[in-house]
Amino acid sequence: MTTQTSPSGHLLLNSISKVFEQGSNRVRAVDNVSLEIHGGEFITLLGPSGCGKTTTLRLIAGFELPSSGQLVLDKRDIANLPPNQRPMAMVFQSYALFPHLNVFENVAYGLHLKKMKDNEIREAVEIVLNMMNLTGLGKRSPSQLSGGQQQRVALARAMVMKPKVLLFDEPLSNLDAKLRIQMRVEIRRLQQRLGITSIYVTHDQVEAMSLSDRIVVMNKGRIEQVGTPVEIFLRPASLFVADFIGRANFIEVTVLGRQGDSCVVKAFGADFKVPCSPIIETGKQAYLMIRPEMMKLTPQTGSKAQIRSTIYLGSSVEYEVDDGGSMLMAVDTQPHFENILSEGTPVAVSFDPSTSYVLPYEERPSK
Ligand SMILES: Nc1ncnc2c1ncn2[C@@H]1O[C@H](COP(=O)(O)OP(=O)(O)OP(=O)(O)O)[C@@H](O)[C@H]1O
Ligand SMILES: [Mg+2]
Repeated sequence: MTTQTSPSGHLLLNSISKVFEQGSNRVRAVDNVSLEIHGGEFITLLGPSGCGKTTTLRLIAGFELPSSGQLVLDKRDIANLPPNQRPMAMVFQSYALFPHLNVFENVAYGLHLKKMKDNEIREAVEIVLNMMNLTGLGKRSPSQLSGGQQQRVALARAMVMKPKVLLFDEPLSNLDAKLRIQMRVEIRRLQQRLGITSIYVTHDQVEAMSLSDRIVVMNKGRIEQVGTPVEIFLRPASLFVADFIGRANFIEVTVLGRQGDSCVVKAFGADFKVPCSPIIETGKQAYLMIRPEMMKLTPQTGSKAQIRSTIYLGSSVEYEVDDGGSMLMAVDTQPHFENILSEGTPVAVSFDPSTSYVLPYEERPSK
């Protein structure tokens, strides 16, 4: 067995919907989702609890059938294929290892079902166990392994099937923070080495940012935005995306004019040219999004803006600023001993326009 897979694994979701019927109750868990996933791509479905991430993944795997829409893998319609005939493998949050089988048998299980010869199975399993740093652990039972090792076995069991598409449903949420980061790095390295199309579900934005080629932000069964981590963070398509992917100040502004991809808005008593959403029009109300790290605070006697709270975190300082009644968040990511601002200090507020963004106005959902 070689560990190389073909560079195929191009997946197309075409207007996929899934409606669950429970008596008179209808839940539209996935609502008209269209998405193209390129061969070898690492894509993450990100969104709050109940937004339809797991259902989308289960539709791709074949554990659920869509109410409408098409699913096409490498130009072949697979919507009606049962899960075991789809060249895919899934890794679950719970690991889902068989407790009565040892590590070797767990990994070999799917190959036995495929009726592979014993000596070929042995060779294939050994290669994958080595690849996953599980050498020598084949005879242990899952209960004799750490959480991280168990998740590696689950991953080995998926990889040994040489799938065209790997599906992950929150695979790291049962691990402690340090192990989670380590496993994240391992998953990304392995995926890049083997070039297997990977679809990863999480509600952790940092995990999504660190793993993904592209992120799909979902809300209420729909796609809010598809983009690279940088696009999603710096050019969010909606208030929901901007709010979900990190902390931000949203300042209500009127758009004074457009210049190419930027528009002019007034904030903190001055005009700024800021990158803006393509659907923003002159004269309209909008939100100026400023990430706390992009805020600049300069001590200024007599300014109406004042530091309300200072939280020193070592590598950064978090400030809450009262700007004449409205509260702003600011983070200094390069604090020096002499320039930490104490509570009550009057400050001039400014920001870096190039890393800020103007978003269309919409009612802000109550939290
Ligand atoms: N088998 C089912 N029958 C009825 N409703 C369901 C079923 N499975 C999921 N749902 C509903 O569909 C919606 C989407 O659920 P889904 O499990 O896809 O969310 P999720 O984004 O994975 O959330 P989480 O982050 O909590 O895992 C929810 O409202 C959920 O209650
Ligand atoms: Mg889920």
